[in-house]
Amino acid sequence: MATTEEQVSQTPRVLLCVTGCIAAYKACEVLRGLQRAGCDVRVAMTEDACHFVGGTTFEALSTHPVALDLSTYPDSSIPHIFLSGWADVALVCPCTANVLAKVAAGIADDCVTSTLLACDIPVLIAPAMNNRMWANQATQANLTTLIHRGIEVISPDTGLLACGDTGTGKLADVSDIVNQTLFRISRLQPSLLSNKRVLITAGPTHEAIDPVRYIANRSSGKMGYALAEAARDAGADVVLISGPTALTAPYGVEVVYVESAAQMYEAACKAFEQADIAILSAAVADYTPQHPADHKLKKQHEQDRSLLSTLALKETDDILAELSRQKGSRVVIGFAAETTDLLTHAQEKLMRKGCDLIVANDVSRQDSTFGSDTNRITILSPEGEEQLPTMSKAQVAKELIIRAAELLKENDSGCQGEVS
Ligand code: CTP
Repeated sequence: MATTEEQVSQTPRVLLCVTGCIAAYKACEVLRGLQRAGCDVRVAMTEDACHFVGGTTFEALSTHPVALDLSTYPDSSIPHIFLSGWADVALVCPCTANVLAKVAAGIADDCVTSTLLACDIPVLIAPAMNNRMWANQATQANLTTLIHRGIEVISPDTGLLACGDTGTGKLADVSDIVNQTLFRISRLQPSLLSNKRVLITAGPTHEAIDPVRYIANRSSGKMGYALAEAARDAGADVVLISGPTALTAPYGVEVVYVESAAQMYEAACKAFEQADIAILSAAVADYTPQHPADHKLKKQHEQDRSLLSTLALKETDDILAELSRQKGSRVVIGFAAETTDLLTHAQEKLMRKGCDLIVANDVSRQDSTFGSDTNRITILSPEGEEQLPTMSKAQVAKELIIRAAELLKENDSGCQGEVS
C-alpha cells in the first residue's frame, strides 16, 4: 500500500481484478480511463477472464506484468501479498456472480480471490452477469454481506444483456466505474475541505409567465458546475442547487434541481443549515411574474393580451443577502456579472449584500461571457481587490475554493479565539 500522502495523491495505485465474463473487454477501457486520470494500474485476472481477453492485452496497456496465478508473477514470489500491499484501492471489474460469492465467503482459491482476501484497502466491485443470476437470492445475500463489510458496489445497469435476455446485470457505464473509483481515491487522504460541506448555486432560473412561457437569462451554469467539482476534489461534501442547464451533474455531488428563484431560495436556505461555505454563482432572476397564468395566454383574447403586454412583476427574495445575514462564522461568496463599471457595481454589491467576497466578471468580454469556457475575474473583499488573469472556469473554480477554505480557516480560528 502506498505509505505517504504524496504517493497517494500523485500516483494513485489501482489493482484491477478482471474476472470471467464477456464484459471483460470493457475492463480495458476502465484501465485506460484510470490511467488518463493519473492512476498507475496493475491487473490480476482469473483463468476464466483469460478466455475473454488475453493477459498480453492488459500487460501492454498497464505496462506491468499481469498476475494470472499464485506462482509465476515476475515482480514477486507471493503476488497476492505484493499486489494487495501495493495498491491504494482494488477494483473488481467485471465481477462475476461466482467471484462475488467467493469474496463473500472468504474463499481464496486463485490469484484474484487470494489477493482480495489479503486486501485491507478500499475494494469496489462492478458486477456483471445474467439478470436471473443477479436476482437470485444467493447473489443478493452475498451483495448484502459485501456492502455490510464496506465493499462498494457499482450497481449494474438494466438493458439488453450479452446472452440475449433483458434485465439488470449489464456492467455499469465505463465512465461511472472510473468516476466512482477516482472519487473513492480522492477520499483516501485529508484534503483542504475534508469534513466540510459546501453549497453552490448554479445556472439561470426560469420564471413562469404561463405553462409555456418563462423569463430567463443567458447563464449556462458552467461556472457553478466547475465550482462544485473543485469543491468535491478538495474533499468537501457538496450540494449543488442547479437551475435548468444542459450540463451533466458532476459525479459524487448531491444535486438539487430547481426551476424558479423561489424554489432556489427555499433549497438554498435549507442546505445552508448544514453548510460551512456557500458560493452563489447562479444568475437568479431579480423579478418574477406577479400572477403566472395557469393556462397558455392567448394574444387573440383581450384579457390575455393585456396580461402579456403589461406583465406585472414582483421582486424575488435575495438568496445571497439572506445567507449573508445568517452566516455567522461561515463563508458566503457571491458573483457580480456586469457589462459596465464592473468594480463600482461589484463593490456596491459587496457592501449591500454583506457577503465575504464578490467575484466580479465583465460579461461583455469574449473571455468571460455567458457560456464561455474561460472566465476573467476580480475578487473583491472588504480588504481590497485581486485581479486574476483569464483562466479556464475549472482553474477559476480551484482558485475560489482555495480562497473560500482560507477564509473559513480564518473565521474558525477567530471563533476559537473568542471562546478562549
Ligand atoms: N442573487 C441571489 N438571489 C437573488 C438575486 C441574486 O442570491 N434573488 C445572487 C446571485 O447568485 C449573485 C449575486 O446575487 O451571486 C448577484 O447580485 P445581483 O444584485 O442580483 O446582481 P444582478 O442580478 O446582476 O442585478 P443588478 O446588477 O441589476 O443589481
